[in-house]
Amino acid sequence: STSLNSAFVAKGKKYFGTCADQGTLGNTQTKAIIDADFGQVTPENSMKWDATEPSKGSFSFSGSDYLADYATENGKMLRCHTLLWHNQLPSWVSAITDATELTSVLENHIATVAGRYAGKCYAWDVVNEIFGEDGKLESNVFLDVIGDGYVKIAFDAAKKAAPDAKLYINDFNLDDPAYAKTSGLAAQVKEWVAAGVPIDGIGSQTHLGAGVTTTQAALELLAESVDEVAITELDIAGAAATDYEEVINACLAVDKCVGITEWGVSDSQSWRPNENPLLFDGSFEPKAAYTSLLSLLA
Ligand code: G3I
Repeated sequence: STSLNSAFVAKGKKYFGTCADQGTLGNTQTKAIIDADFGQVTPENSMKWDATEPSKGSFSFSGSDYLADYATENGKMLRCHTLLWHNQLPSWVSAITDATELTSVLENHIATVAGRYAGKCYAWDVVNEIFGEDGKLESNVFLDVIGDGYVKIAFDAAKKAAPDAKLYINDFNLDDPAYAKTSGLAAQVKEWVAAGVPIDGIGSQTHLGAGVTTTQAALELLAESVDEVAITELDIAGAAATDYEEVINACLAVDKCVGITEWGVSDSQSWRPNENPLLFDGSFEPKAAYTSLLSLLA
């Protein structure tokens, strides 16, 4: 039978995926759905800084290796997430106040984590959620201590460690071209690319409320700055079929949109459990949105 992934790939896209990790894959129903329906996985938490380098220079890869091995053994593409984020950042990093020290900590973290999965990640979310709603870089320890040059430092380190991965900047609330965040990020990325920062793609997380309207125009604006864009963490409050159709059609309509990643399989495992935003309900039954996507892609 047709899977969401194979139907999407037949339309010229690279993958239809989901986030996962050892815990969710340990649920047999979740695993069966991912095995059958999804062509790509993103580690939901296991590649983040708190998981991979909980104390300085001491790396731990059991959760991230589990997910990477699952991908290899099951022929799933892997999007790797994320090398720099102000959340799930250990306090030993946020406590650093010296620019030289923080730069070397950042470079070592990226060399070690991206280096371990070199050749395995289709893409890396090198930096995550670094922009504010005003479309400007937001305060975080890296901006405050190193200055805005930290972005180039991070991308250069990722390029060196994982030369064949597509290097992404990933963020949320990029769903409307009228948002200051969407236009500000797009303009800043265009400048960085022109200045030689090795950014290949922009990830639009696409955590949406019910009633989607301008995703396609937003993807088109983002795509002007880079070689490719992707919907990286899709979930929609209520999971209305019409809302999901609009997002899938937006990616289909934008040539540079390479793929879509759902942020989970079943509502029972979602980070938004009360909003029922995913394609499978709490009993792992496919919802109307799932069925309608399959027929839209048929
Ligand atoms: O691992 C600890 C465990 O040791 C502890 O006992 C337990 C008790 O709370 O917490 C566990 O950590 C949780 C972690 O997920 C792993 O399960 C954290 O509390 C929890 O806050 C964390 O939530 C994750 C969240 O990122 C953190 O900001 C979600 O699962 C994950 O879906 C979410 O994903 C993010 C993307 O990375 C970036 N974009 C937004 C998206 C949604 O917030």
